[in-house]
Amino acid sequence: MILVTGGAGFIGSNFVLDWLAQSDESVINLDKLTYAGNLENLASMAGNPGHRFVKGDIADLDLVSQLLAANRPRAVINFAAESHVDRSIHGPEDFIQTNIVGTFHLLEAVRAYWNALDETDQAAFRLLHVSTDEVYGSLQAGEPAFREDRRYEPNSPYSASKAASDHLVRAYHHTYDLPVLTTNCSNNYGPYHFPEKLIPLVIHNALAGQPLPIYGDGQQIRDWLYVKDHCSAIRRVLEAGRAGETYNIGGCNEKPNLEVVHTLCALLDELKPRADGKPYREQITYVKDRPGHDRRYAIDAAKIAHELGWTPAETFASGMRKTVQWYLANQAWVHNVTSGAYRDWVGKHYGNGR
Ligand code: NAD
Ligand code: TYD
Repeated sequence: MILVTGGAGFIGSNFVLDWLAQSDESVINLDKLTYAGNLENLASMAGNPGHRFVKGDIADLDLVSQLLAANRPRAVINFAAESHVDRSIHGPEDFIQTNIVGTFHLLEAVRAYWNALDETDQAAFRLLHVSTDEVYGSLQAGEPAFREDRRYEPNSPYSASKAASDHLVRAYHHTYDLPVLTTNCSNNYGPYHFPEKLIPLVIHNALAGQPLPIYGDGQQIRDWLYVKDHCSAIRRVLEAGRAGETYNIGGCNEKPNLEVVHTLCALLDELKPRADGKPYREQITYVKDRPGHDRRYAIDAAKIAHELGWTPAETFASGMRKTVQWYLANQAWVHNVTSGAYRDWVGKHYGNGR
């Protein structure tokens, strides 16, 4: 069996669903259920003996140690994190606690567990730490995409906290021989994406007749990957990645934010036209830029392609269409996650009326 942390969030829940659809190996899912964790994502797992959910914190050394000792997983996959850049700017504390202290405690629990395994189980064991391309900082126009040997230069409290966790993971391999793998992935999109992030926020606001907020000039570039492609890459790295290595994961889909929003508006115009017949792009509004906003991210995914034979299945066009279709078909999910705490965040960050 495997232990997944943060498996009630966006990427973690997609990973758990895909894993159990393709494998008989069961999953223990440890998640603190912060505002970003949602058991509704896993509703289809109800009654599935292959999935066991445990509510708890990766920073809880006793709990994690007990879970490891009782279940003896052959791998731990760490998705648990605070993940939203804007929130890290408003309040970095939770990011330091979960992303740095939490990862440290997880590493300590895993190290003690791994040390006590017999030689065969030690050799087979992996801790896979899921990280982001944001640790590399911002690229200038024309600079080559991030490779694994790129210097870390994190610019936001979020990316700095993820960079710190990556360094700890690396050090536990170097110092203690813990068999770790780290993946640094570009921006994901797809089902179960919490509507505080650009793509689900734009779909949600468009349908609600609200402004589509573009930070600054909208020419910041992100390299978009459909979430299920990220999940297949993680499965492949877990299966064949070399312990101690890092693998960059990306879809070769560099797009300026404004183009992403135009693509979403065009898909909505086709699939769910506005009642007044006008195009959704009329709702676009330029708002104040994010402080310290990274201009461009781009991943060079040659290493994972050449060493492990992984490439994404979706193009940007096919992934975006699937995503919009999913949101249109799952408005009840959106409705449930956009109450309470979500409205407080939108009011605080965008001001009233957005
Ligand atoms: P998310 O915010 O949607 O989900 C995070 C999950 O972790 C939630 O279910 C939350 O309840 C849980 N969690 C938070 N703190 C916890 C704690 N202390 N203990 C246990 N569980 C806790 O995030 P996501 O977008 O699914 O990202 C998952 C991972 O992938 C993160 O490590 C993130 O840095 C990384 N990543 C995300 C992206 C992206 O585009 N979303 C891209 C690259 C890497
Ligand atoms: P986001 O989805 O928050 O991901 P990240 O900051 O981790 O890349 O934002 C993606 C891009 O979209 C980023 O350049 C910020 C921008 N953005 C907006 O222009 N408006 C918004 O309302 C949001 C949430 C993001």
